[in-house]
Amino acid sequence: MITGSQNTDYARGLEGVVAAETRIGFVDGINGRLVYRGYNIEELAESSTFEEVSYLLLYGKLPTKSEFTNFTSKLNADNQINDQLFKILQECTKSSHPMSALRTAVSYLGAMDKNSNKFDLAAQEAMGLKLMGKFPSIVAAINRAQQGKPIIRSTEPNYTARFLEESFGKKPTEFETKVFRTALILHADHGMNASTFASMVTISTLSDMYSAVTSAIASLKGPLHGGANEQALDMLERIGTPKNADKVIAEMLEKKEKIMGFGHRVYKVYDPRAKILKGYAKKLAEDKGHTELFETAEEVEKVMINKLGTKGIFPNVDFYSGIVYKSLGFDPTLFTPIFALSRISGWFARSFEYLHDNRLFRPRSMYKGEVGPLKYIPIADRR
Ligand SMILES: CC(C)(COP(=O)(O)OP(=O)(O)OC[C@H]1O[C@@H](n2cnc3c(N)ncnc32)[C@H](O)[C@@H]1OP(=O)(O)O)[C@@H](O)C(=O)NCCC(=O)NCCS
Repeated sequence: MITGSQNTDYARGLEGVVAAETRIGFVDGINGRLVYRGYNIEELAESSTFEEVSYLLLYGKLPTKSEFTNFTSKLNADNQINDQLFKILQECTKSSHPMSALRTAVSYLGAMDKNSNKFDLAAQEAMGLKLMGKFPSIVAAINRAQQGKPIIRSTEPNYTARFLEESFGKKPTEFETKVFRTALILHADHGMNASTFASMVTISTLSDMYSAVTSAIASLKGPLHGGANEQALDMLERIGTPKNADKVIAEMLEKKEKIMGFGHRVYKVYDPRAKILKGYAKKLAEDKGHTELFETAEEVEKVMINKLGTKGIFPNVDFYSGIVYKSLGFDPTLFTPIFALSRISGWFARSFEYLHDNRLFRPRSMYKGEVGPLKYIPIADRR
């Protein structure tokens, strides 16, 4: 066969290719650091709020008091979903994964917003803020719809507390709010990952912010990206107890299966986000009196580091986040929508940043097929 391979550099999956400049976030995979606009993630996780971090990612600095008030009032100006969308979510969650419902919700909101045909920076910013403001109510409504429960509309202005109240129908404790807020901050941005890249590819065509976020949600859905925490928890529940960890992991590795919640394209050391979540997973397990799942996770971590630590395989953020969300009362199918609830700020900030110096993404593929020219044979004569 004659092939058409071209003489050009080739990076499978774009690995290692630098395709954009950014001032938003830096993943230092060698030293295990995650930096948002110069701040270490540990510092923000301890002291900041999700809204403040979103402002930081979007506008490049921590807000003053009045900037913060102005920002949160824009987020909360129109932060509920209507009955029509709730009905759609009820239908979607009967047949498909909540991520499909979330993708549909964002696409629906774009279709209903008459400003989504305006593509200037101010319109893109307004769309992003409106969508982000609605996100807690969308994800909480998916949670309610999935459980066959009615929608709850809270007037609580705080992003985290509103989401928890609308999900469970009661005010969260201070500790629950702190844990969940920390998880949101830790997941807000993470370099040029697949979903962020998808949102940027879409916005680079001068499409609208709803479409960019819809693309991002579609790519976050997969188990190699956002779906890993659901699968990691499922695996831990199958292992069941610390003493089974060694045997089960050895069998999985023997079959060349990937252990969900381990390894990372960029981090070759312990993921700093996993370190913080591990602490909260332990504290929640102790508080709720269910420590076996956490102890199983710790044992799996020990076994994996023993076996694959030399290859740079360590727990990533998804390994402990599932335990945290389960302890807070969420069904595992909600874990990836919760990831999106946080990552919307990174998708929005990076797409918005990219638009300021836009260039259409258009990589090439290496053609390995027949170059012909072949002669067309009518269908009746083909065998
Ligand atoms: C994230 C991921 C796709 C990165 O893959 P990658 O960049 O190809 O990983 P590496 O090149 O560092 O892998 C090095 C080696 O470790 C193995 N490895 C990587 N992650 C592994 C895992 N989770 N379980 C078992 N083996 C793993 C690879 O197969 C490779 O083995 P080899 O040397 O025999 O070829 C991969 O680690 C993975 O699938 N992890 C599980 C899914 C997950 O948790 N995703 C969430 C990421 S935040």
